Amino acid sequence: MSEQRQTKFDTWLKRWGLDQSGELLDWNDVFDGRPVVLDIGFGRGEATIEMARADLGTAIVGIEVHTPGVMAVLDAIENEPLPHVRVVHGDVLRFLLRVPLDSLAGARVYFPDPWTKKRHHARRLVRSDVVGALADRLEVGGQLHLATDIAHYAEQMAEVCESEDRLDGGTVPRPNWRPLTRFEQRGLEAGRPPTDLIYTRQS
Ligand SMILES: C[S@@+](CC[C@H](N)C(=O)[O-])C[C@H]1O[C@@H](n2cnc3c(N)ncnc32)[C@H](O)[C@@H]1O
Repeated sequence: MSEQRQTKFDTWLKRWGLDQSGELLDWNDVFDGRPVVLDIGFGRGEATIEMARADLGTAIVGIEVHTPGVMAVLDAIENEPLPHVRVVHGDVLRFLLRVPLDSLAGARVYFPDPWTKKRHHARRLVRSDVVGALADRLEVGGQLHLATDIAHYAEQMAEVCESEDRLDGGTVPRPNWRPLTRFEQRGLEAGRPPTDLIYTRQS
């Protein structure tokens, strides 16, 4: 990043960002009572912004480790009225420690890194400890929405979510309100259609 861009990044992140570590958040201090949804691993953030534009009533907290993607979303928030979007530049596993239990209307994990080699499957983000931590933080009735173009990962997602007692749901037809994401497009071009899974916290 040029020095000028870095300055913008730092200024915008201060304005629109939430630190990945720190005290437990109170969403009412961050947003004005809107339901809150996490968008985990948003990549370049095109889908995040599109969903934010389409639903001004839901607050979105996007979390991404990759700096150019964070910059792209900050740029959008800075340049159009999207006061209901915040960005975390960091690791969702650390950030979740700041998220109060039973406080989320939803969490989205669209096309997480596939880690296709068998010896790398343990690195996948959608695994039982992470799904457990997300279920803890969803309110009853809150939804976990997952999507992947990797058939084996879709099976793993279903297995992990089905063994979480508080979640109920499964594979759904691709919702037409979910924007086409950059990685979904790549998968389609390679002949891999997406699988969407939606689980609702029951208790
Ligand atoms: C394959 S990309 C998908 C991006 C986007 N959701 C899409 O569909 O185009 C997965 C993204 O997750 C991010 N990621 C991976 N692990 C993460 C973590 N622990 N916390 C936050 N972001 C993470 C990566 O940096 C990457 O941008």
